[in-house]
Amino acid sequence: MKYTFEPTGANAQTNHLGSYRRRLPVSLERMYENALDWAHLPHVHASTFDTITCTESGAWGWRATVTSGDEDTEIELLLDRQARRWITRTKSGQNVGAEIWTQVFQVESRVLDITVDFFVPDIPASDRLSLGKAYAAVYERLYDEDVALMSERQRQLDRRLEGRSTDQSLSIENPSRLPLPHAFSLGGRDYLLHQQDQAWLIYPARCPHQLGPLDALPLVDGQVTCPWHGYVFDVRSGRCVSGATCHLGPMPTVTEHSDGLVVSWALPVNPR
Ligand code: FES
Ligand SMILES: [Fe+2]
Repeated sequence: MKYTFEPTGANAQTNHLGSYRRRLPVSLERMYENALDWAHLPHVHASTFDTITCTESGAWGWRATVTSGDEDTEIELLLDRQARRWITRTKSGQNVGAEIWTQVFQVESRVLDITVDFFVPDIPASDRLSLGKAYAAVYERLYDEDVALMSERQRQLDRRLEGRSTDQSLSIENPSRLPLPHAFSLGGRDYLLHQQDQAWLIYPARCPHQLGPLDALPLVDGQVTCPWHGYVFDVRSGRCVSGATCHLGPMPTVTEHSDGLVVSWALPVNPR
């Protein structure tokens, strides 16, 4: 069992519905980054949130309106690093006045225990257990999705610290028989090979924003959408066409030969 949920007694004179507890294989740095990252909600947690409009954000937390189905909910998240805690408050919408307190205990440098307490006002005693369980089930799903993101981001950051290979080129034989996109590494970085309008395309397998995974995604009109925050990139120019200032990293060139492709960092030699 990955987590526990302890309900508070139905007759207790409190708004406390219960406590969700779970161990997470992530660092405090990744956890705070995730708590402050309001923009991932409708992308990584698409089954819970449809859209988010942020009105204010900073190192202190954020305020935003989220939509789920027909419901608009205004929420704020306040992070207190000293106390290793953040509080999420519902300012308007369903369950207005609800507060979710998340307390973090550091077990090891990359192992955390969290306790999430759910406080919801004006809930009849007969409904408290079922609502507490419903909150715990939602948090279970949200944390499953967040652990996948945080672990993958950490893995990519760790890889960036490893020594890079100095390989300058690579051959890909029979590319037309490969399932696309085809992933490969060159010089310690990961790339994808794809084809559009009969032309071979190479682009980085990692998003320049926070290293989100661009592999296993469809190319639509030469564009790919990062699953973590929804940035859209034109893989031919590298430009972010959804408005962010970031740009796909440099791309090696691809040259077609009779027996396959050569992907290379080498600059083309001018014919004399
Ligand atoms: S990691 Fe944020 S949009 Fe890709
Ligand atoms: Fe999340």
